[in-house]
Amino acid sequence: MDFNVKTGNPEKQRTACLVIAVSQPRKLSSAGESIDKASKGFLSTIIRRGDMDGRAGQALLLHNVPGILADRVMLIGYGKDKSMNELAFISAIETMSTALENCGASEAHTYLTDIPVKGRNIRWKVRATVMQMNHGHYHFDQLKSKKNDKRKILRKLKLNVPGRGDLAPGEESIQQAVSISAGMSMARDLGNLPSNICTPSYIARQARQLAKGQKSLKVNVLDEADMRKLKMGSLLSVSAGSRQPAKLITLEYRGGKSKDQPVVLVGKGVTFDTGGISLKPGAAMDEMKFDMCGAASVIGTINAVMTMKLPINVVGIIPTTENMPDGLATKPGDIVTSMSGQTIEILNTDAEGRLILCDALTYAEKFKPRCVIDIATLTGACIVALGKIPSAVLGNHQPLIKDLIRSGKQIEDKLWELPLWDEYQDKLNSNFADMANIGGRDAGTITAACFLSRFTKKYKWAHLDIAGTAWKSGDAKGATGRPVPLLCQFILNQL
Ligand code: BES
Ligand code: MN
Ligand code: ZN
Repeated sequence: MDFNVKTGNPEKQRTACLVIAVSQPRKLSSAGESIDKASKGFLSTIIRRGDMDGRAGQALLLHNVPGILADRVMLIGYGKDKSMNELAFISAIETMSTALENCGASEAHTYLTDIPVKGRNIRWKVRATVMQMNHGHYHFDQLKSKKNDKRKILRKLKLNVPGRGDLAPGEESIQQAVSISAGMSMARDLGNLPSNICTPSYIARQARQLAKGQKSLKVNVLDEADMRKLKMGSLLSVSAGSRQPAKLITLEYRGGKSKDQPVVLVGKGVTFDTGGISLKPGAAMDEMKFDMCGAASVIGTINAVMTMKLPINVVGIIPTTENMPDGLATKPGDIVTSMSGQTIEILNTDAEGRLILCDALTYAEKFKPRCVIDIATLTGACIVALGKIPSAVLGNHQPLIKDLIRSGKQIEDKLWELPLWDEYQDKLNSNFADMANIGGRDAGTITAACFLSRFTKKYKWAHLDIAGTAWKSGDAKGATGRPVPLLCQFILNQL
């Protein structure tokens, strides 16, 4: 869809559909007032009849409104002004998006940017509108033989801004939103693809594709022989049971000065997690194709950063493999040596994410990072602790964690911190190796992060557990594209 910003009186806009906000109780926004005046009370009459009282979720389409140049007027209710917040604004956009899809307009002009959201300026509202519209328009039907025949008619949306001075910042917000949305769609596509298509080699090909013809992006793929040379015994222990070869993909985006230290993103790329010999139960196992959503978010973020041409260096590192049971698979009790030299007793082969991440985190040292953020669908315990609203964040550097949490609030992709206290470390004691790969039933998200913390001592590090946020289950099953927005906002805040 195309977006652009405009400023002007609503009654003078020549458009297929003007979108106007109404708050509770029965209160027109200022744009609504202007149209009401131009139409000699047409809108207020309709509102008085009780067809639109401003409740959130209401939409009313009007034809032939007199005294204006638009073909249609769409009224969107958004609730009470004083309960207006970020989520309520985004819901209003969702309502508009659905209502526009159900009408015949191929183009529209929205004044929902009028809605007052406490603490948020026009830039925020423009970006949120564009991101939500793109999110709603996403569909994944490349593997259906009959494409969805409900044609998407809406092709262009104009967003109103208060004055001429808001046009340039508004345009910039649109560009940002379009780049971030494209990164999210890319992450969603990779997540939604089944594991028989989206293999480690497939992800490597996609990464290479991204770098084609791009001076600022360099992609490098290590195969298992390379990993063996680097002594990545932990990562290789996970791929041991798989016929699909593991890959370690590095994407280096160089938009900053050559000596600027990069932000390093490390994404878990388990293209299917059966649990290995510690086999998972069957229920909902199909969803373990989403176990590479951390990797997908790294690719999506790098793509967004590249299209925004940000003057910063960002490195993405993706360890990617399947986790399969097999005659050659790693067995509970096996002991492996990680790239760091530390030995690991693998008590549960289903705790495989940390086993591939630890070697990737050691590998990250060579980039002399300004900070390292790993992103992983790491623990079911994270969903037990926090549900599916925020991702969990833990790390070894409070200012970095605070920056990440703030970024999440700015772009409505939230994080919640869990404690990474030393007292938890003992849970990983092993009788036979330097550490075990699991820490028992309690505090599973924290003990997983404790494990990773033993490989991240040389730099500032934060870990995002996205087990609850990377995809949705049930009727709306599918990848969400999170936390691409959060990561993009964090990188924007570094400039
Ligand atoms: N990929 C899973 C985590 C997961 C499970 C995410 C379900 C979302 C939904 C991970 O590899 C895993 O299996 N973790 C185990 C760890 C345990 C064996 C210590 C878990 O969470 O059960
Ligand atoms: Mn697992
Ligand atoms: Zn997993």
